[in-house]
Amino acid sequence: MASNTANVRIYLNEHIARINPNIYGYFSEHLGRCIYEGTWVGKDSPIPNTDGIRNDVIEALKKMKPPVVRWPGGCFADDYHWGDGIGPKESRPRTINVYWGQVIDNNEFGTHEFIKFCRLIGAEPYICGNVGSGSPRELRNWVEYCNFPGDSTLARKRAENGDPEPFKVRYWGVGNENWGCGGNFAPEDYAAEYRRFSTFMFNFKDAPLYLIACGPSGNDPNWTHRFFEKLGWYRHINGFSAHYYCGSAGTATEYTVDQWYQLIHRASLMEDLVVQQRAIMDGYDPKRNIGLIVDEWGTWHPPAPGQVPQFLWQQNTLRDALVAALTLDVFNRHADKVVMANIAQTINVLQAVILTEGPKMLVTPTGHVYAMYAQHQGATALRIAFESESISVGNTSLFGLAGSASLKDNRLFMTVVNPNADTPVETTISLGDGRARSASATVLTHGDIHAHNTFESPNTLEPFEVNIPADGAIFNYTFPPASVTAISVLLG
Ligand code: AHR
Repeated sequence: MASNTANVRIYLNEHIARINPNIYGYFSEHLGRCIYEGTWVGKDSPIPNTDGIRNDVIEALKKMKPPVVRWPGGCFADDYHWGDGIGPKESRPRTINVYWGQVIDNNEFGTHEFIKFCRLIGAEPYICGNVGSGSPRELRNWVEYCNFPGDSTLARKRAENGDPEPFKVRYWGVGNENWGCGGNFAPEDYAAEYRRFSTFMFNFKDAPLYLIACGPSGNDPNWTHRFFEKLGWYRHINGFSAHYYCGSAGTATEYTVDQWYQLIHRASLMEDLVVQQRAIMDGYDPKRNIGLIVDEWGTWHPPAPGQVPQFLWQQNTLRDALVAALTLDVFNRHADKVVMANIAQTINVLQAVILTEGPKMLVTPTGHVYAMYAQHQGATALRIAFESESISVGNTSLFGLAGSASLKDNRLFMTVVNPNADTPVETTISLGDGRARSASATVLTHGDIHAHNTFESPNTLEPFEVNIPADGAIFNYTFPPASVTAISVLLG
């Protein structure tokens, strides 16, 4: 097999910033089978559960070290009224999930169940408030219900419903996609709504809020300029969140080699989004107090045959794994600005990390990437430079090798994507003044670029370990074609 060659240089003394673990966050919406069946089966289910939440899912997610989960939507959040999801289950109303198939939501999964889920998997809750069809008072009261430690009527109600201690929810979205399903606002109008709603979102004792404003659809500079222009001096804002779906090329499981490259190229445009959006934000926030967030991102394939189109279920192949990996690498490289990102979505919807079917469960290739990349969480991002032979994709070109690096104590961790469908890349890795004492790699790859896990064969794609001979400032490694690799180096 012919190979390409590349050089990678890691700058151990050029620190970008601490990688916020929240970059490795998730998004769970009341949509299709993400919450109902995928997460929540109810206490009386024959599927083993803890207080109604699936045990197999809890265990699988814990291995991915989930830092934060965004809930309840998405567009669902823009028509969600939190009061429907508390109190005795039998008296919760049956509401219509208007955006996703107009199915009935019996509201069995509400605020308490979400907090329980987060605690079971060790993640922070991130609640997306309803600006589109809700009121400032409703959102204000949700914050009080969750966070007030005193003896108010809402705090008493929380205690009656099983949780006397405040939830201390820190992350709150002030709306979702307010340029679309969240109210079809012009950016100026949303900025005014943002100011009004957030004014009434109070910090209570030991529960300071981190407020997140709705950012653009994709890399739209117009929304960002006009939002910040209108926001003016107002600074009750901590994060600003874009959404970017790279879409599909072919279908989830059927694509040509050209389509393999097209989708990977489209995913790589996340870097342009981050670079351009952060530059605009710097103009309005030169001290960089406001973090850039991408709280929905991922692939979005055409509806799978035999599935309800509105439920957005899709298979997840090696190609999705490369999309996830290269996107996480982009966020790591911009750790000085990107403070959170949430893949869409956790289970059974879009680029899921887990799929379920009744009592069965599997981890997707994307889920394996999250476990492989977990070591970056909380480490210091380092500057890394790649010299590789680029790949032509139509009129443009794609990197021949890309990745990110981080440092924690004397452990260097680097993650690398080789997008070449059938060409290995023989690489010289240089640590400058640093010295490797030993190194090992975890690799996710397959001879078939369409490989994916099914319930009949759930382990078709699984990472495997490789030992790398490394001793000194330079070592060599050949990245297999169509692969994601995580290399851990002990420095000495
Ligand atoms: O993730 C699916 C949907 O995509 C979300 O509900 C919405 O916010 C976005 O358009």
